[in-house]
Amino acid sequence: MLITFEGIDGCGKSSQAKLIADRLTDQGMECLLMREPGGTEHSEQIRTMLLDAKHGMPMSHAAELLLFAASRAQLVQEVIEPALKRNAIVICDRFTDSTIAYQGYGRGLPLAYITSVNDLATGGLVPDITFLIDIPINLAIHRRKGIGDDRMESESRLFFSRVVQGYMALAQKHPDRIHVIDGSDSMEDIHHTITRLVEYELGNDLRHAHRMIDLDAGNRPRRAEGKSILAATGDFAYSFDVTAEAIAS
Ligand code: TYD
Repeated sequence: MLITFEGIDGCGKSSQAKLIADRLTDQGMECLLMREPGGTEHSEQIRTMLLDAKHGMPMSHAAELLLFAASRAQLVQEVIEPALKRNAIVICDRFTDSTIAYQGYGRGLPLAYITSVNDLATGGLVPDITFLIDIPINLAIHRRKGIGDDRMESESRLFFSRVVQGYMALAQKHPDRIHVIDGSDSMEDIHHTITRLVEYELGNDLRHAHRMIDLDAGNRPRRAEGKSILAATGDFAYSFDVTAEAIAS
């Protein structure tokens, strides 16, 4: 299962990602906590190029988009995909939605490009669940005070208001996947909400996995259930094939 955290800089998502990762690990699950950009040797080098304010040289918006994508492509291939294949839980602090919000809405690059580049980098991988931590821009800026701003963080208030607009558009477009969480609540309350939602999602995942195992084992009542579900879709040829195959096994 892939769980992602999103929101503007200073919203508190990194602390929440760590809290839930620690909790799942304590419960005995294999859980990987990643951050973007970064997470592999190549990706960490790209991170320095992208965020190090010391470079000082302006970066073209297209170069910025492609570097975020390059970092992600490496992370997906080297870490995320193998982890998902062995049924680990991957928690990622930022993922594809960041690129839509920051490079798409923030920088104004065409969304069609962003979608294509995201798809290329991830091979079409979509998070199972995304937490969007929503806080007012003023509060985010206040929380970041005293921490030196990186290249992205030193952007204008107007830039961040476009990023927030992008996130809200995404949340409206994907209401089943993206959960908007009020980031001005206490750390404990936010963690509690996130825990409940993750456990619900994990429960669904387990129920699904058990159903598949039962079907594989040729469990009769399940087979009957499978037949009636398929028959209800009206696809009788498919229903017949699956049932015949299950009975033969
Ligand atoms: P980071 O120091 O990890 O900050 P945060 O704790 O806010 O995640 O910096 C990542 C920065 O990169 C952040 O300003 C958002 C930006 N970013 C993009 O612009 N596009 C992207 O695709 C990603 C992953 C991050």
